[in-house]
Amino acid sequence: MRTHEQTVQEQFDPQAEAYLTSAVHAAGPDLQLAKTLISRTVPVAAQALDIGCGAGHLSFALAPLLARMVALDPSPSMLAAVSKTAAERGLGQIETQQGTGESLPFADSSFALVCTRYSAHHWTRLELAVREIARVLAPGGDALIIDTLGHEDPLVDTFMQSIELLRDPSHVRNRSRAEWRSLLQSAGLLELECAAWPTRLEFTPWVERMRTPVDRVAVIRSLQDGGPKEVRQALTIEPDGSFTIRTGLFWLRKAA
Ligand SMILES: C[S@@+](CC[C@H](N)C(=O)[O-])C[C@H]1O[C@@H](n2cnc3c(N)ncnc32)[C@H](O)[C@@H]1O
Repeated sequence: MRTHEQTVQEQFDPQAEAYLTSAVHAAGPDLQLAKTLISRTVPVAAQALDIGCGAGHLSFALAPLLARMVALDPSPSMLAAVSKTAAERGLGQIETQQGTGESLPFADSSFALVCTRYSAHHWTRLELAVREIARVLAPGGDALIIDTLGHEDPLVDTFMQSIELLRDPSHVRNRSRAEWRSLLQSAGLLELECAAWPTRLEFTPWVERMRTPVDRVAVIRSLQDGGPKEVRQALTIEPDGSFTIRTGLFWLRKAA
């Protein structure tokens, strides 16, 4: 019997290379938007933290705008991939740290910017992690949260979360925009900007990235093929199983 943390390690540790080259992760409108938001407000001397850095795409995009970027992840091989690529790209601002969002190994008020991208749907105790983000942020500091969103319609949401879990046992939950807002407000983080956009998940690379066993791929495909019209339309399920969900971005500030 494995803990969730062990499942996360098993899912991600062998996959650093796949995440480094994944089109969904290496690109996306959010990387440019993140750079714009940060260059507009965060001073260049700032220290920043990227939680659940994976293969490092957000850290690589933002590091040139900052004095120091700590890339944190529970997976040692993701951290090794980040260090290697950062060295190759001359990004000396990046350092790595093993850890999880729920228990950040930093003193209060350590960072002017805390960010996370495509990771929070794996966190078991999101409320605690959001409080941790607020704790390690300096007064007046900014947080940038990017993640796949849950659907407001319960029928579509249950379907989406089910196929996500079948594909990847380390999936916990894509939170809806309303769930995020309530958690962020409770932690005292003021929303300055929010955006959402469609993210198309191409079926074969989506399952290959997580090494989904063939029997589970078959269950996903059968659910998709037999799914109700409302779900098939809401998720734009295509003949090969590719589908589209929404990604959300929250730009937040801790009171000065
Ligand atoms: C999809 S990858 C992240 C992608 C990356 N942030 C990017 O911009 O390309 C998800 C990462 O979240 C990490 N993760 C899972 N659970 C976590 C937790 N509780 N705290 C922090 N990171 C976690 C995984 O190890 C994995 O590397």
